[in-house]
Amino acid sequence: MNTLSPLCCILLALLISSTLAPSQSPAVDLALRSLARARGINIGAAVAARPLLNDSLYAQTLAREFGMLTPENAMKFGPIHPARDRYDFRDADAIVEFAVANGMRIRGHTLVWHNQQPRWLTEEDFSRDELLAILREHITTVAGRYRGKVTAWDVVNEAIGDNGSLRDTIWLRRLGPEYLDLVFRWAHEADPEAQLFYNDYGGEGLGRKSDAIYTMVRGLSSRGVPIHGVGLQMHVSLDSFPNPQDVAANISRLAALGLHVHITEMDVRIRQPITEEKLAAQARIYQEIVRVCLSSPNCTAFVMWGFTDRYSWVPSFFPGFGGALILDESYGPKPAYSALAELLRGR
Ligand code: G3I
Repeated sequence: MNTLSPLCCILLALLISSTLAPSQSPAVDLALRSLARARGINIGAAVAARPLLNDSLYAQTLAREFGMLTPENAMKFGPIHPARDRYDFRDADAIVEFAVANGMRIRGHTLVWHNQQPRWLTEEDFSRDELLAILREHITTVAGRYRGKVTAWDVVNEAIGDNGSLRDTIWLRRLGPEYLDLVFRWAHEADPEAQLFYNDYGGEGLGRKSDAIYTMVRGLSSRGVPIHGVGLQMHVSLDSFPNPQDVAANISRLAALGLHVHITEMDVRIRQPITEEKLAAQARIYQEIVRVCLSSPNCTAFVMWGFTDRYSWVPSFFPGFGGALILDESYGPKPAYSALAELLRGR
């Protein structure tokens, strides 16, 4: 596979997307990003550095169809801070440069999580004060580096367990529940302009976990902690997805707290074999969730966890499942793509 330098890749994407008039785009007349902006929301996708730098069709499609991106892994603690005294910004910088070059907004993901942590962080028995200093320095360094470029940060990811209580993580065990207030304050100090989000899965509709998230963010807000939104990940399947009315009700109660909502990681996995009927059902689910976002004034972004089935986390994490995204492995539009385009056109 040809390997382009980051700059060449960015210039190539710019050249192709500028010369390839929408009417010539292989997908449809107008790209999703144009249609979405006209309806007042950002549409985006998670992005992996390797295909961005090595697969020109990936870069071209991303630049044409999406006005927002989230680095899938590049900004997580482990990849970006591999040693206590060393950061590795190469992949994150390449993704940010691509977004800036193509006029795309950036969701930063994620400053505080219990997964993808580097071994130096989890293997040493740091004191509470040491861990506070490490975490504050990490947030200040990473959010500070992308100050003015990242529009919204997933400051904390998945801090609530599936049972609705605070997840038992290194952060909770060593720092206590006050870590939540601290990390949002540190992120705001590092980038006062960025919107700061709490991001999670399994709390998109109504229920125990959704209520726990609501209670937690209401507490943060009431204490004057700088939190601006909640990310609803929306990793679903044909057999398991939230009732759209419940999602609308959840978004509405978060609006009453003054919070934005982003759909942050949507994908709709399909159990193999993939059939036309399953693809049609997938299209309906995508369309229903975007319809809810469009009808909710505080829902300002709809981001999928990738955009082509050629690169998706789903097959390796859910054996027997695939086809979760809106473009097929050859970047062709699936029924879900057409359904979103039709909805965004207002039809
Ligand atoms: O980069 C290394 C590579 O050097 C190594 O050779 C390879 C094999 O060990 O691993 C590679 O790292 C993998 C990384 O993805 C990049 O591909 C990790 O093992 C793998 O665990 C990691 O998976 C990511 C997963 O989060 C980690 O929990 C997925 O790509 C990513 O899509 C997924 O994204 C999360 C969101 O951040 C939060 N919400 C849930 C979502 C799905 O789990």
